[in-house]
Amino acid sequence: MPPLPSELAYVPFVSVANMMGLVHHIGIEQVLCDLADAIEADFKRWELFDKTPRVASHSDVGVIELMPTSDGEMYGFKYVNGHPKNTKEGLQTVTAFGLLADVDTGYPKLLSEMTLLTALRTAATSAMAARHLAPKGARTMAMIGNGAQSEFQCLAFKAICGIDTVRLFDIDQAATARCAANLAGRGLNVVQCQTSQSAMEGAEIITTCTADKQNATILTDNMVGSGVHINAIGGDCPGKTELHRDILLRSDIVVEYPAQTRIEGEIQQLDDDHPVTQLWQVIAGSAKGRSDEKQITLFDSVGFAIEDFSALRYVLNAIQGTSYSTQLDMIADPDDPRDLFGMFERANS
Ligand SMILES: NC(=O)c1ccc[n+]([C@@H]2O[C@H](COP(=O)([O-])OP(=O)(O)OC[C@H]3O[C@@H](n4cnc5c(N)ncnc54)[C@H](O)[C@@H]3O)[C@@H](O)[C@H]2O)c1
Repeated sequence: MPPLPSELAYVPFVSVANMMGLVHHIGIEQVLCDLADAIEADFKRWELFDKTPRVASHSDVGVIELMPTSDGEMYGFKYVNGHPKNTKEGLQTVTAFGLLADVDTGYPKLLSEMTLLTALRTAATSAMAARHLAPKGARTMAMIGNGAQSEFQCLAFKAICGIDTVRLFDIDQAATARCAANLAGRGLNVVQCQTSQSAMEGAEIITTCTADKQNATILTDNMVGSGVHINAIGGDCPGKTELHRDILLRSDIVVEYPAQTRIEGEIQQLDDDHPVTQLWQVIAGSAKGRSDEKQITLFDSVGFAIEDFSALRYVLNAIQGTSYSTQLDMIADPDDPRDLFGMFERANS
């Protein structure tokens, strides 16, 4: 029998089943609130982090991306894809997994599924940003695009911003019906709409969360009245946007990391020097969020590595003392660190 791996060989792994169990155990709205707080706290220490636009590998049908960052103590990265055509083939548009490692030794500390965690962290980030940008007392949100991310977005805005009504629209009515059914009994007034215009009626917050690999026009300029907050999620790749350019020109635009958003976000439609505000500065109080009732605020979200880092660290803490992880024999750990070959040989005896 080959020798058993040592303690150091093992890395906690959170499978999809365990992530679902963990989130049910804590409660999804609590997790969304906790993630919003964790991400906000990390955005407050923004300057400490290594930052780089994500590394994207594009094809005609989608993109595969790596999203790394470090705060000097921990290093993290996420693998994520975006393939809008996938749902027609019975596959998801977005899947992901990620890893946290100790900067001091380079040893991994956590490997986790991140498809669910991405939906949770994206929704938590959106609602956290809206806490700073949306009109005070907003109660109604239009939710355009009712796919995989949509219920998470609706629940985050309920739990974090106090939204009580969501007005749903999708070009696929079956998606709207599914989203409405999933949200039933969760304390939200859910209205299914036939057009994007009707979804917008009375909405103080507009979330666009569609998937299409083109410069789409989900919102035209005439659809957006003064004073609203737009949470634009689905424009997150070169050549993949959701809003008409004229809306951008009327909005105060807040972004995660300009160097990445200028490549991937709605603002790829604007000049490179068009003024934008960074979300971390609004959170830190060094830049203005919403300053008047008539202003249109736009969170041009593309998703940034620090949000995934915060989410992974939250999961690493949350699994301590629970059974929501398994141990993966992932790191080769020879007794003599330089005798990797000897360990390999003994496995054959
Ligand atoms: N910003 C971020 O951090 C972040 C994170 C995750 C996903 N995303 C993006 O969010 C988008 C949604 O992701 P998902 O996983 O929910 O995708 P999905 O494929 O599950 O759902 C997208 C929905 O959009 C609908 N749709 C497409 N065109 C539309 C239109 N013109 N009007 C109304 N509805 C339309 C589709 O019918 C579908 O139901 C994707 O573009 C994805 O890349 C962004």
